[in-house]
Amino acid sequence: MMAPAAPDVRRFADLDALSRAAAEELAAIAHAAVAARGVCHVALSGGSTPRRLFQLVVQRGAAALPWPQLALWWGDERTVPPDHADSNYRMAREALIDPAAGFGLAAAQVHRIAGEHADPAVAAADYERAVVAALGTPPRFDLVLLGMGPDGHTASLFPGSPALTETARWVVANPVVSPLVHGATTRITLTAPAINAARHVRFLVAGADKAAALAAVLGGPRDPARYPAQLIAPAPGDAAWLVDDAAAAALGGRS
Ligand code: 6PG
Repeated sequence: MMAPAAPDVRRFADLDALSRAAAEELAAIAHAAVAARGVCHVALSGGSTPRRLFQLVVQRGAAALPWPQLALWWGDERTVPPDHADSNYRMAREALIDPAAGFGLAAAQVHRIAGEHADPAVAAADYERAVVAALGTPPRFDLVLLGMGPDGHTASLFPGSPALTETARWVVANPVVSPLVHGATTRITLTAPAINAARHVRFLVAGADKAAALAAVLGGPRDPARYPAQLIAPAPGDAAWLVDDAAAAALGGRS
């Protein structure tokens, strides 16, 4: 039996260098997708790591991306209104969408998850319908950007949460219990099958607080219930990890 291929891990000195490389990747993937299919469907990650990437993408200006042919989605969302401080959409609107006004990204190209919906299961079903309507089944995003928490979660696939074993749905409302969400909450998230259907998955991981989990995810025994990022293995698509030296500190060797 063939050994699993070694993960594609790309190390950078810091978050800024990592984000510059991610901006290049995004541009290359977007231009290739548009040349092949006339559109590029990107699922943005949440949390704080992608903010620098978003700022750099805007700084590179209108010519850097095929803005009129982009479709922006989210890999996950918190169950909060779009103007809430915890909203992944709000961070992207402030760092990417609003500053890119005039680049040719129309409101209809932005597909946010309705975190404000009274019933997260309905919001998840609505988002799933929109994803399938645009991308078919399986929904094949051109790029899914992901972060990783210090517990090895990615998107809103948290350790021990029900969504980890979901094999049929593409989007679910996932009840989460974790100190990282200050107790218990419900998140709306792409499932592992949806992420693994993508053409390209890129993890952006920075900071010393991620080092132990990154080493466990990439080099430890397979235990996706504990380290959900291990669920991500796109096929026939590809995955790569863009990590800074601080996050890679426990990986050993220079990858
Ligand atoms: C979220 C994200 C989540 C995030 C990681 C890393 O909604 O929080 O989708 O998966 O990517 O928690 O977050 P940071 O980038 O803030 O470290």
